[in-house]
Amino acid sequence: MPHADQLIINIGRLATGQQAPLRGPNLAQLTCLDQAAIAVQAGTIVAIGSQAELSAWTADQVIDAQGYLAIPGFVDPHTHACYAGDRAHEFELRIKGASYSELMAAGGGIMSTVRATRAASIAELVAQTRPRLDQLLAHGTTTVEIKTGYGLDTATELTMLEAIAELAQTHPIGIVPTFMGAHAIPAEYRDNPEGFVDLVVEEMLPAVAAWWQQQTIWQEPLACDIFCENGAFSVAQSQRILLKAKALGFRLKLHVDEFEPLGGTPLAVELGALSVDHLVATPPEHIAILAQSETVGVSLPGTPFGLGKSQFSPARSLIEANGILALATDCNPGTSPCESMPMAIAIGCRYLRLTPAEALNAATVNSAFAIRQHERVGSLAVGMQADIALLNLPDERHIGYKFGTNPVAMVIKAGRVVHQ
Ligand code: NIG
Ligand code: FE
Repeated sequence: MPHADQLIINIGRLATGQQAPLRGPNLAQLTCLDQAAIAVQAGTIVAIGSQAELSAWTADQVIDAQGYLAIPGFVDPHTHACYAGDRAHEFELRIKGASYSELMAAGGGIMSTVRATRAASIAELVAQTRPRLDQLLAHGTTTVEIKTGYGLDTATELTMLEAIAELAQTHPIGIVPTFMGAHAIPAEYRDNPEGFVDLVVEEMLPAVAAWWQQQTIWQEPLACDIFCENGAFSVAQSQRILLKAKALGFRLKLHVDEFEPLGGTPLAVELGALSVDHLVATPPEHIAILAQSETVGVSLPGTPFGLGKSQFSPARSLIEANGILALATDCNPGTSPCESMPMAIAIGCRYLRLTPAEALNAATVNSAFAIRQHERVGSLAVGMQADIALLNLPDERHIGYKFGTNPVAMVIKAGRVVHQ
C-alpha cells in the first residue's frame, strides 16, 4: 500500500497543475477536479487526483479539507512588506487632495518610511514585519517577495536584508528577497541625484553582492529592482544601475509606468529583466514589445485602488498580444497597505477585466514565474511543493466575486498546516 507523510482528503474542488508561464490566452486555462485528495512526502506532492484514485494511500497524518476549495498557495511577487512605522497621516492628507508625488517631493512618501526604518533596529524591523507576514499567510499567500528600499544607505539596506533573512528562518511563509537600493533619492542627495546613483553603483551593489555570497538561506541569484519614474530614477540612471547589477550577477526587475511612461518597459526587455511591475501608463507600443519577451508584466491593482485612481494596467492588451501577466499586492505603507491576494484578485477582475480563472492563474502559476520560483511553487502537481490554500468557497469564481472578507480557512506549507 502506498504510504505518505500527509494525506489531504475530502477536497471539495481542486485547481490542478499548470505549466508556467501561461502566456496570452492560455492564462484562462484552468482545470478543476471535484472530490480530490493529495499525498505529500517530505513536503512534496507525490500523488494528486480524485479521492477514488488515492483511496489506497495511507499516511502518518490525515488532513481533512472539509470539502473546501483547494488552490495553490498564492505567490505574491511584489511587496515592500519590511518597514517601520506607517503612513496613515499621508492617507488622510491624500483624501484632502495632496497627491502621492507631491508628498514625495515634499520629503514625505517613501522618505517618511525611510526615516522610520533607519531609526529601527533589526529586532524592531522583524517585530513590525512579522504581523504582516502572518496576515499574508492568513490570506493564503505561501510565498512572498520582499524588497529592501527603505534604507537608501548601505548600512540600512543591509539591516533590511538581515531582518528579511531572520524572518525567512523563523516564519512559515516562503520569502524571496529583492534588493531595491534605488527606490527613491534620499533627502541627503536631493541636490545631487547622480551622487546617489554613484553610491548605489560603487558601494551598495558590491556590498549587497558580498552579503548575498555569504548567506546560506537562498541558493538562486538575488534580484535588483529600481523605481524608474519622474521624481525617482530616469531611464539613463536606471540603465546604469541595472547594468552594474547584471554584471555582478543580480537578476533584474523594474517599477515602470506607475505614473508616467518614461521608457522603462523597453529597457527592461532589452536587459532581460524578470518582470516589469505596475504597468499603468504603458503605451501600446511598449505593451507590444513586452508581450514578445519572457519578461512578466506584474500588475498591482491595489496601488491605483489605494491611491483612489481610476487608471489600471492595460492587462487585456498584454494578454491579447500574447504576453505574460501576473498579479501582486505591492504591500507597502504608502500606496497599497494590502496583505491580501484575494483582494488583488477582486480588484483585478473588476478593473483589469480578468476572468476569475485568469486572475487565479496570474496570482499563482504566473506570479511564481515572475520571481522564477515556478519549479517548486504556484501549481499543484506531482513534484511540486505542497503549498495549498483551502478556501471556504464553492468554486474559484467566488475568490474575486466576494471581497472584504477572508475566504481562506486553512493554509498548508510544504505539507504542514501553518494556519487555520
Ligand atoms: O510600488 N513606487 C514605488 N514604490 C512603492 C511605493 C512605496 C511607498 O510608497 O512606500 C510602490 O508603489
Ligand atoms: Fe512597489
